[in-house]
Amino acid sequence: MAKQNIYDNDAFYNNFKSIRSNKINFNDVIETPIITAMLPDLSGKRILDLGCGMGQHAMQYAKCGAESVLGIDISDKMLAYAKVNNSAENISYRKMAFEDIAHIDEKFDVVTSSLAFDYVENFGLLMKNIHSLLKEDGACVFSMSHPISTAYDGVYDRYTRTETGERLYANLHNYGIEGIRHIKWVVDGYELYHRTFATLVNDIVSAGFVIEECQESRVPQDMIRKYPEQFGGVVHHPDFIFFRCRKA
Ligand SMILES: C[S@@+](CC[C@H](N)C(=O)[O-])C[C@H]1O[C@@H](n2cnc3c(N)ncnc32)[C@H](O)[C@@H]1O
Repeated sequence: MAKQNIYDNDAFYNNFKSIRSNKINFNDVIETPIITAMLPDLSGKRILDLGCGMGQHAMQYAKCGAESVLGIDISDKMLAYAKVNNSAENISYRKMAFEDIAHIDEKFDVVTSSLAFDYVENFGLLMKNIHSLLKEDGACVFSMSHPISTAYDGVYDRYTRTETGERLYANLHNYGIEGIRHIKWVVDGYELYHRTFATLVNDIVSAGFVIEECQESRVPQDMIRKYPEQFGGVVHHPDFIFFRCRKA
């Protein structure tokens, strides 16, 4: 099975790092507030963070009183940054792909993941493996790109705009065709996987989870007014989708 590791590409990594380090970014303004509100109480819990990247969430969870946080990621560069900038006694980082998590010999109270499952080809298998890694009644809380967003295949502009460039509405093309997308994001040839909303829900449920909550991207109106170019699109289509699932 394909395992993409574009985060170790110098150009991609440097660009991503500068986007992520800018205070006004999609992660901090949109993703983190929503996923944080969906998390169960983490105090005394054993957490597994999949696709931990630079470790910002691992650090957040450690500060919430987690007993331990294990962050796994495929990228040496992301892990190196995490180890220097987001380390704590109760955090450990391991180089590992999502596709190999069945080898982890440990059970967790909560499995989290932020904006990383777009890179997984077999989402159903991933959900089954997460289910096996959870203790009874454990929770899996994750965000990923929204199916309306991953449908984008680069053939048409994401938006139909006015003559002055204002977004009128979002375009949807090939939503019903699942599979790999090669688009331009940060670099040319960026790859992610598109699946429909029904596939996501059915894969989660087939793995043995009960879906307790689902959310879509929201942005405070004042941020849209202040930063229309970055966040104006959110009123037309959600960039991210969020699930809280319980091991049934
Ligand atoms: C958009 S970043 C998100 C990082 C972090 N969760 C955050 O919220 O800032 C996606 C992360 O997924 C990791 N990743 C991509 N494919 C992976 C795979 N097959 N196995 C493990 N990690 C992977 C990348 O290396 C990258 O660190």
